[in-house]
Amino acid sequence: MLFTMNRRYFLKLSAASLGSGALQMAGLSIAQQVNSASWQMKFKTALKENPWLAIYQTAANEAFASRAEVVGHWPKELKGVLYRNGPARHEIGDFRYHHWFDGDGMIQAFEISADGITHKAKMIRTHKFKSEKVAGHALYPGFGTLPPEQIPITDPDSMNTANISVLPHHNKLLALWEGGSPWEIDPDTLETRGIHHFTEHTAGVPFSAHPRIEPDGTLWNFGYLSGARLIVFWHLNRNGKLLNIGKIKSDPISMPHDFVVTSRHIILMIPPLNFEPSQHSSFLDAHQWQPDKPTRILVVDKYDFSKYRWLELPSQWIFHFGNGWEDSAGIIRFDGARYIDPSIMINTFRDVMRGVTPLANFSRQHQYQIDTRKWSISEAPILPSDILTEFPVIDPRVSTRRYSRLIMLCTNKNQPALHGHLNGVCSFNLDSGKHNSYYYPDTQIPEEHLFVAKPGSKPESGGWVIGTSHDWEKNKTNLNVFDVETIDAGPIAIATVPYALPFGLHGKFVEN
Ligand SMILES: [Fe+2]
Repeated sequence: MLFTMNRRYFLKLSAASLGSGALQMAGLSIAQQVNSASWQMKFKTALKENPWLAIYQTAANEAFASRAEVVGHWPKELKGVLYRNGPARHEIGDFRYHHWFDGDGMIQAFEISADGITHKAKMIRTHKFKSEKVAGHALYPGFGTLPPEQIPITDPDSMNTANISVLPHHNKLLALWEGGSPWEIDPDTLETRGIHHFTEHTAGVPFSAHPRIEPDGTLWNFGYLSGARLIVFWHLNRNGKLLNIGKIKSDPISMPHDFVVTSRHIILMIPPLNFEPSQHSSFLDAHQWQPDKPTRILVVDKYDFSKYRWLELPSQWIFHFGNGWEDSAGIIRFDGARYIDPSIMINTFRDVMRGVTPLANFSRQHQYQIDTRKWSISEAPILPSDILTEFPVIDPRVSTRRYSRLIMLCTNKNQPALHGHLNGVCSFNLDSGKHNSYYYPDTQIPEEHLFVAKPGSKPESGGWVIGTSHDWEKNKTNLNVFDVETIDAGPIAIATVPYALPFGLHGKFVEN
């Protein structure tokens, strides 16, 4: 058990993660700086021809607040707050980041009550955001960008953008990144309270953006330390108390973004996007895709981190898993949005920053099966080959347990949207194989949609699907609600706020 490790050890671990290329100080050449300025010019030019690119603009303001206009019949029982997070400041002065993931985080809240729906949003005031605002230019290396003028990094959280997801847990609201610590946010005002450390001994130890919460509130998470080639595992109780933290060596190491937890095991995929420290490249560019190498699957006993196995599958890339569970015979089943390679991250999310339209190159949902008696693994697609998916979510009440329903964003690769992004929302039943989908008009670009249970309902029974979409034609943002049983009938109500927001990542719904 590493919980007994001293603070110096964990600081050493954190410093080891600074071995990443993103954290190596290297000034850019004149040619690179000129190229940086051209990114902004290319984006502005492309925006005139493709107005949907507005979702990759920097947020028009550092804070927003408005009442939403509702059309349709918003369900009376659907009350609570939808919190969302995502990159929102993509430029500082005339310097534009070279990757979508580099933007500083903005936290949003759609508050749904008997009085109606209101929206507010605020930039998360991280160390990075505040110090760069004072300086007037980029100071820190990003995930896929090395700015022209950089200052030395001494703390893994100094470049923390807090821009991936949000975690409501033990009466706190935390904004999550994956390379460092969470940032605590006031759940009512959305003001940034400060960086959050679960203990003084774990300051700066990476805490991924996709913790898994069991129905009783128990929290599991992981982090990766590229320079040290370590995967770290977190186990907290429902009150946020650290119960255990451990580490396992992974050499080679990649950048796992999400993981799976069952009643007995933790499962991580390490694709062959192998990290090699570099003095002169961004963190992303310090990784090399090696498709001839296997994707390694780490299966860990969640109550004894010293017990683990490595399995192998053909090379593949996954950002997100829906859920996982295991039966009494020791068969683990889980699903994931499987890409053939990480080109969407390496190329597409970089290209959009200079105005290049995506090519609907998304993932195909697969189910994986691990037999813990033989330590074998298999995989198979679960949807027709023309349906591509991402952002799989479940009813949170069956997290780590047997489940049958996935909610995902989707697109039909034979009928891609004008804007090239995922354009639909899909419900899929793993037991029956049935699915139904709704596709938004081309003037809208949807973001992650979530399942919200009807109060008093049994798990995976009645409820709604809610999610945001960007109406780039009207320059407005919609919050859409569907009856989960009839998604294909379209939204039953839409709440619209009178401004465009930047394209974001993940959210969580907190019921009243
Ligand atoms: Fe994610």
